[in-house]
Amino acid sequence: MDIKNLGVLASGRGSNLQSIMDACAAGRIPARVTVVISDNADAYALERARYAGIDAVALNTDDYIDKAEYEKHITKILQEHNVDLVCLAGYMRMVGPGLLEAYAGRIMNIHPALLPAFPGLHGQEQAWHYGVKYSGCTVHFVDDGMDTGPIILQAVVLVSDNDTADTLAARILEQEHRIYPEAINLYCTNKLVVEGRKVRILA
Ligand code: GRF
Repeated sequence: MDIKNLGVLASGRGSNLQSIMDACAAGRIPARVTVVISDNADAYALERARYAGIDAVALNTDDYIDKAEYEKHITKILQEHNVDLVCLAGYMRMVGPGLLEAYAGRIMNIHPALLPAFPGLHGQEQAWHYGVKYSGCTVHFVDDGMDTGPIILQAVVLVSDNDTADTLAARILEQEHRIYPEAINLYCTNKLVVEGRKVRILA
C-alpha cells in the first residue's frame, strides 16, 4: 500500500496532531505527517511536530495582505511537502476558497460535538450548557461552511448529571483521539466514497 503524506494545520495544544502522529508511527495509518503549519507561533502543536522530527512552520497572518495570500502560502508549503490530505486539528480559522480549491475533497476536520448540532467554537461547552443527554465528536470533510461538510465518523459520549463542561470535554477528547486517526486511515486506504452529503465507508 502506498504511504500518503499528511499536512496538519493546528493553532493550539495539538493533542489531535499527537494522536495522528502516534497512529502513523505505530503503523495504524499508512501515512506520515510531512508538515505541521500553525497560525500561532506559540502553538504547542509546533513543539510536538519538532520533537517528532517533522517540519513545523509558523505563519503570521499579519504578514499577508489578505487571506487569499496567506492561504496561497499555505498551499505552496503543503505542495512542497507533497501533501495528499490536509487535516485540520484545532485550526481556529475558516478555510477560504483558495485552499479549498487546491485540496478539493482532501481536507478533513475534527469537531467536538455531534454535528450538525453545536458547530463553531467550544462545541463541548455549548452542548453542556444546552443540557443535552449525549454529545460527542465528528470527523468531516471540509467545505465552505462552518463545520458543514460531509460527515465521515462520529462517536457518542453520554452526559451525566455530575459532568462539568470540562469533564465532558475530556471524555469527548478521548473519542476524538480514537476516531480522527480512524477516519484518516479510511481515507488513506481508499475506503471513503463521497456521494453528495453522504460518505459511504467501503468494507
Ligand atoms: C479539539 O477539541 C478539536 O475537536 C477542536 O479543537 C480542539 C483541538 O485540540 N477542533 P487539540 O489542539 O487537538 O488538543
